Amino acid sequence: MRKRGSEMERFEQPIGVFDSGVGGVSVLRELIRLMPYENYIFFGDSLRAPYGSKTLQEVRSLTEQHVGALLAQGVKAVVIACNTATSADVSILRGKYPGIPIIGIEPALKPAVLSAEHPRVLVLATPMTIREEKFCRLMKQYETQAEIMTQPCPELVRFVERGDFDSEELKAYLHEVLDAYRKEKWDAVVLGCTHFPFVKHAIQEVLENQTAFFDGGSGVARETKRRLKEQGLLQDNARSGRVVFQNSDSTKTKLCRKLAESQ
Ligand code: DGL
Repeated sequence: MRKRGSEMERFEQPIGVFDSGVGGVSVLRELIRLMPYENYIFFGDSLRAPYGSKTLQEVRSLTEQHVGALLAQGVKAVVIACNTATSADVSILRGKYPGIPIIGIEPALKPAVLSAEHPRVLVLATPMTIREEKFCRLMKQYETQAEIMTQPCPELVRFVERGDFDSEELKAYLHEVLDAYRKEKWDAVVLGCTHFPFVKHAIQEVLENQTAFFDGGSGVARETKRRLKEQGLLQDNARSGRVVFQNSDSTKTKLCRKLAESQ
């Protein structure tokens, strides 16, 4: 017999996944691939995206509000599928909810740096991610092993939120921010915002297909599985789990579902 909500074992509860908008679905896809038996609640704050050009205080307060709402729905763990919100708030959230696994995402600089001998690495992210202390510390850790350049792409999130992955307008914007890099040889490009994997092909085209791309999605999925296992919270059901999409802009749930099904 199926147990009612209050009687549910903790490991049966869903995993909450949060992003400023639809981009976090790139992380959700990896979570589902690795843990198909889990249930998920994905919340995107598309009404207020992009977060990357807001103030630190605004991003903190929105992130805490939405993570609080996921916890109120009984999630057993929270994945902050947003580099910007992670850099602004993950340590505060961990202090506030010490009993809940809270997994954040950061630009995948480590695998990019380790992918070649002293590589040239280009990191694309939001202005806040690049500016915040968390990423500055990460840069310091790897700056002697690679030549690292960072490029904020503040408008790119808006294209993905509109479901625009390859229009002429998008390409014109990418040329504006990336033309300075296209004639150079890059060994790795880090997609340091969870929206960016959805426009990877357009970025590749503008950079003339010269590099390997890295994003943090699969690393976050592995880390989430490790943390759940460690705490005895992995779902042991052999049936496929359920995904519930919630969004502050209800017109975006259809796009989230479509992106979750895309490869
Ligand atoms: N997906 C968010 C990230 O990874 C985008 C932030 C934004 O809304 O600007 O940083």
